[in-house]
Amino acid sequence: MAQDLPVRHNILMMKRRDWITGTAALAAQAAVAQTGGGKNVVIASANGLRACAAAAEILKRGGDTLDAVIAGVNINEEDPEDNSVGYGGLPNEEGVVELDASVMHGPTRRAGSVASIQGVKTPSKVAKLVMEQSDHVMLVGEGAGRYARAYGFRQENLLTEKSRLAWLVWKQSQRDGGGHNNWTDGLDAPAGKATGKPSALRRAFPEAGEELLAWAAEMARRPPAGTINCLGRNAKGEISGVTTTSGLAWKIPGRVGDSPIIGAGLFVDPDVGGAGSTGRGEENIRVAGAHTIVENMRHGMSPKDACLDCLKRISRNYGDDRERLGKFDIKFYALSKDGVFGSASLWNGSMRQGKLAPAQFAVNDGGKSRLEDCAFLLERKP
Ligand code: GLY
Repeated sequence: MAQDLPVRHNILMMKRRDWITGTAALAAQAAVAQTGGGKNVVIASANGLRACAAAAEILKRGGDTLDAVIAGVNINEEDPEDNSVGYGGLPNEEGVVELDASVMHGPTRRAGSVASIQGVKTPSKVAKLVMEQSDHVMLVGEGAGRYARAYGFRQENLLTEKSRLAWLVWKQSQRDGGGHNNWTDGLDAPAGKATGKPSALRRAFPEAGEELLAWAAEMARRPPAGTINCLGRNAKGEISGVTTTSGLAWKIPGRVGDSPIIGAGLFVDPDVGGAGSTGRGEENIRVAGAHTIVENMRHGMSPKDACLDCLKRISRNYGDDRERLGKFDIKFYALSKDGVFGSASLWNGSMRQGKLAPAQFAVNDGGKSRLEDCAFLLERKP
């Protein structure tokens, strides 16, 4: 203990401690200066360039951090072309779109979420309603839908023609042991005419071009688990986050991923920062990813290293077997309360039409939103 030491030693210790503290403080200040301390910072998954821009605009006007990130992801939720979120999201195995979302508001330390909700384009708004207007944290399924309708949310069909086409292609791709599928032309087709191929798709979707059909075939082959996570921090150091998704395509009805699970798809601690995830939720739930990352940051890891550590836990769950790990993708995003941010992906990228598309995330720390490369744990060779 310092008081038991000789005076001279004690003074030396104090000087050294002061020096260390001063150096650490200077380093911390430099890091903050480089990464946006005192600034508004918004980060999101790669589909969140517009979300980051919209959220940053709200933060610039002095808006609340949660309102900002929700307004950001509402763009994706309402966009029929984003097939991983909200309206136009890929449906469950019965062709019904089921959505999951969660929100966390740093300044009030509150959380809300909904899971398996149907018919509402913007589940992130319903999650906020659960947080603010109920004494619960999570509502699921029919109850979540009824709750949303009680507050005036319109019940809408969320299945777009594009997503319906993809679902039908997936239905037609399922075969029994004999290679048969009840959703293609049948045994009673004119003699010699049965093909077992999805020829009726051409009649059902006359507008569908080759590109759209190729996309639908790819969705059937590799069911995606896309999502948007968005974290926002204002100049005062307040932080909030949201994660919203249509979940894993062709899932069993009622399947809930990581996005609405507080501590998995999203976690915010205003004393430390926030984290979120996109990709295969089952893996994330098993490592309580977002909470793990925030705890890593609390214990001194940078956001990037905190995300990489979490990915190592996922890899460990598979005995680091690259073959099984190669069957899925998952990414984490983290933002500290000081405005330092980072992201890491299990893989360096994903293969698209024979090419490697790099794993990236979206950032807006003033000016235009941009994409940055994620750190990664494993390398996929093209
Ligand atoms: N991360 C989205 C999901 O697995 O549902």
